[in-house]
Formats: sequence, structure tokens, C-alpha cells
Amino acid sequence: MSSRTKIKALLTGTQTGTEVTVKGWVRAFRQNRFIALNDGSTNNNIQIVVDFENTDPTLLKRITVGAAISVTGILTVSLGQGQSVEIPATTIEVLGDCDPDAYPLQLKNRPSLEFLREKAHLRFRTNTFGAIFRVRNTLSFAIHQFLQEKGFVYLHTPVITASDAEGAGETFHVTNFDLNNIPRTETGEIDYKQDFFGRSTNLTVSGQLEGELGAMALSDIYTFGPTFRAENSNTTRHLAEFWMIEPEMAFYDLQDNADLAEGMLKYVISYALDKNKEDLEFLSQRLADEEKQKPQNERSEMSLLDKLQFCLDNDFMRITYTEAIDILRDSSHNKKKKFQYLIEGWGADLQSEHERYLVEKHFKKPVILTDYPKEIKSFYMRQNEDGKTVAAMDILFPGIGEIVGGSQREERLDRLEQRMDELGIPKDELWWYLDTRRFGTCPHAGFGLGFERLVLFVTGMGNIRDVIPFPRFPKNAEF
Ligand code: 4AD
Ligand code: MG
Repeated sequence: MSSRTKIKALLTGTQTGTEVTVKGWVRAFRQNRFIALNDGSTNNNIQIVVDFENTDPTLLKRITVGAAISVTGILTVSLGQGQSVEIPATTIEVLGDCDPDAYPLQLKNRPSLEFLREKAHLRFRTNTFGAIFRVRNTLSFAIHQFLQEKGFVYLHTPVITASDAEGAGETFHVTNFDLNNIPRTETGEIDYKQDFFGRSTNLTVSGQLEGELGAMALSDIYTFGPTFRAENSNTTRHLAEFWMIEPEMAFYDLQDNADLAEGMLKYVISYALDKNKEDLEFLSQRLADEEKQKPQNERSEMSLLDKLQFCLDNDFMRITYTEAIDILRDSSHNKKKKFQYLIEGWGADLQSEHERYLVEKHFKKPVILTDYPKEIKSFYMRQNEDGKTVAAMDILFPGIGEIVGGSQREERLDRLEQRMDELGIPKDELWWYLDTRRFGTCPHAGFGLGFERLVLFVTGMGNIRDVIPFPRFPKNAEF
């Protein structure tokens, strides 16, 4: 491979006077003279100056928007406006032509996000998606860095599993059935118990249960992988396939768990603000432009950058579910009967409009809600002494709602078995999980951070389908 310099490195201007080669895709070609070239390392293009009088006209014709080209020339201080450096080209080679009539991103106006969702295979080439996926990359690196520095072990948990960790029945079956010879029960129904080489399996909804096994020996572990939920929900916050970070820590209680989660969120947001300053400034401006389209009273008062900084500068609010219910019930919003689902009483699950009220209207900052009624939470959460609540925590973020779900785990074998019996969860299928409570059990806790919801918050985007490269949602799995 010939030496090639990334555009981001060139724009710092430290290499002027030296010959460089850049490779990328043409974003614009003006007056047969100025090429704006982008290679995805930054949203800023490098300007290539073409000596068109001395360039073969057939080559000039092939320099079209979207074409891949290689350019060599001396990096020069630019006298023109809008850029500090430019490259007067000595050689230009077209590596891949792009038919301007067929290329979908030819539009002069900024293409809409809906249009780009249809063209998801090409949307990486726009400034918005370039910025989003660079920020996503940084956030994922920052998560590893934060946890690694604390001595956590990255544990790879399986994608194919026999358990439904959340017990919500939202699993995708995994099957290797021979479709011409599907095993049937005696009554003629498909025998799903045999679908994976004689076992019933599904794609994981969470790596937590396996993660707990690791924590019971390695102390602090985390998973970071794809998880799957077969919920047929077409919302801006749900995907059928999403990435989750699940730290699990031995000898942690609920408060330790909340401290870790808050610390991690602040660390990664601050890391992105530092490493992706230009991209976040671009996304902040994008959001500001979008806000201008809204009626004045619906516009957000804070810019994206201010929101991120605010999140870093303030402690998250910590309250119990019971306190939250009191706030919601007494709110003027509720008294005017504005909640679609009125809080009927203690014990009901919070709807997203309740969560958003707490975060966006009442506290106006991230909230960590703890100690939910046990009936609305999973079997593995540690039962509190009141007999009614469990040591659960959800972290709610402005504009997002739930971003983290976690808990202290029930480490007492008798209590855990009793809860599984009450909920009809077969103990024999989770014998391995129960073994950790038999052999050296200890207090432990963990949480799951929905990665795309984090990326949504940091990029200020409005739809979760725009922050994952290849979104999976009902009827969408082409590539
Ligand atoms: O609250 P959830 O279901 O919790 C668990 O799965 C626990 N086992 C985690 C743990 O304690 N280790 O999911 C955790 C987070 C949610 O807070 C949300 O951010 C995200 O995962 N999430 C989704 N993100 C996108 N699309 C979906 N369908 C999601 N479902 C949950
Ligand atoms: Mg949850």
C-alpha cells in the first residue's frame, strides 16, 4: 500500500511543504477546479486544487460526487477562505467511478434522516452519520477504558443460551431444524424443546446471569455485546438487536452499584466531549437547526453541548420509587389529569411519560430511581426488608428515559428459590445459577447500560435507528 495520510491529520497544517497522498470520496467539485475530499476521519474536507487546463478532460469528467480518488501533491497553506491548507494536485487517480445520475446522495439540500434510513448502506458518507459513528466508537472505547482502569475483566458471554434472564418472554428462538423434517410432539405440535441439536435455545436478552458466574470468582467483570429482544415495538427507543454493557461486581451493594454507573456515564460523556469536540459541535449545531423548526414553546432551552456539560457538573438525583410515585401523584401535571396513565396507586410500573416528567420537568437532571415494587421487577433482584420492594435501580436521562437498569442481586439461596417458585421459574433449568448461591455466595450487584440509548443522548439524535450502523427492528434486516 502506498503511504497515505488521513485528512484529519493533514488539517492540523503541520506538514505543509511536504508531498502527501490523500485518498477519499469526492464531496463536491466546483468550477472544474476545487475538489472537496472526505475520507471519514473528520467531517472537514480537504480542498484539492486542480490545474484543469493541464488535466485530461476525460479524467476531469470522472471526478464526480461520490467517486473514490487518490491525490498526490504538496500540502500548501491556503490563501482562500474556509480552509487553512489545501493540496494543489500533481497527480489524480480515479479509483472508483460514481455515476452522478444514479448516486442517491447527490442532493443539493441536506437529505432528511428518513431518506437516509432508506439509504442506510450509504448514509455513512454524510456528515451527520460520520459524526455519529465516530462518537459511537469513542464511547465504546471509553467504556472499556473506564472499566479496565478499575481492574474489571471483560467477559464474553454467549449469544445462544437456554435462559431468558429477564423472564419477559421476549426471546428469539434459535433453531437448526431441518425444515423438511421438523420434530413434532406426540400431539403434532412443533417440538421447540429440540430446536437446537435437541435443546430449546434462544438469542440472549442479557448476559447478566452468566456474568454473575464470572463475578463470583473474578470479582469485577463486564460484558459488552449484542442482546436481542423480540418485542414488536416500533418506537424511537427500542431495537430488536442492541448492544449492552453489563458490569457485575462481587461485594457491591446498591449504592456502590449506583456510584459506579454514575461515574461511568460521566466519564464516557466527558471522554467524548474531549475526543470528539468537532463532531459534537457539529451535532449540537444540527440539533439547534432542527429545534428552530419547532414552535418557540417546544424548543429546548439548552444546546446539546450544554446538556452534556450539565450532566457532568451535577450529581444525579437519587430517590426511591415510592418517593417518585408521591411526586407524580401530587404534581400539578397529574392534577390537571394530563398523564395518560394516571398513577392509580403504589405498585404500578412507571410509563415513559412519568419517567420523563420526573427527569425533564421536576428534577431537570438525571435521576436514579431505586427500590421498586418486587412485582414489576425480575426474579434475581434482592428483596428488601419491607417484603414489598427490591434493591433495583433504573437511571433515567433527559430526552431518553431509562438508560440503565440494574440491581443488587438476591444472594440468599432460600429467598431466591422462594421467589422463583412464586414466579413459576423452573429451578432445574437454572441449577447452575443457583449453584453460585450454594458455593460461597456473597452480596453482589450489577447493571445494564443500553449502549444505543447512551449514543442517542450524547449525539442528541432523536431516533435509536440512527445511532446503530445496521438497525434491526420489525421488518428491517436487509443488510
Ligand atoms: O432493563 P433491562 O431489561 O435490564 C437487563 O437486561 C438487566 N439484565 C441488566 C443488568 O442488570 N445486567 O435492560 C437494560 C438496558 C435498559 O435500561 C435500556 O437502556 C436498554 O438496556 N434496553 C434497550 N435498548 C434498546 N432497545 C431495546 N429493546 C432495549 N431494551 C432494553
Ligand atoms: Mg429495565
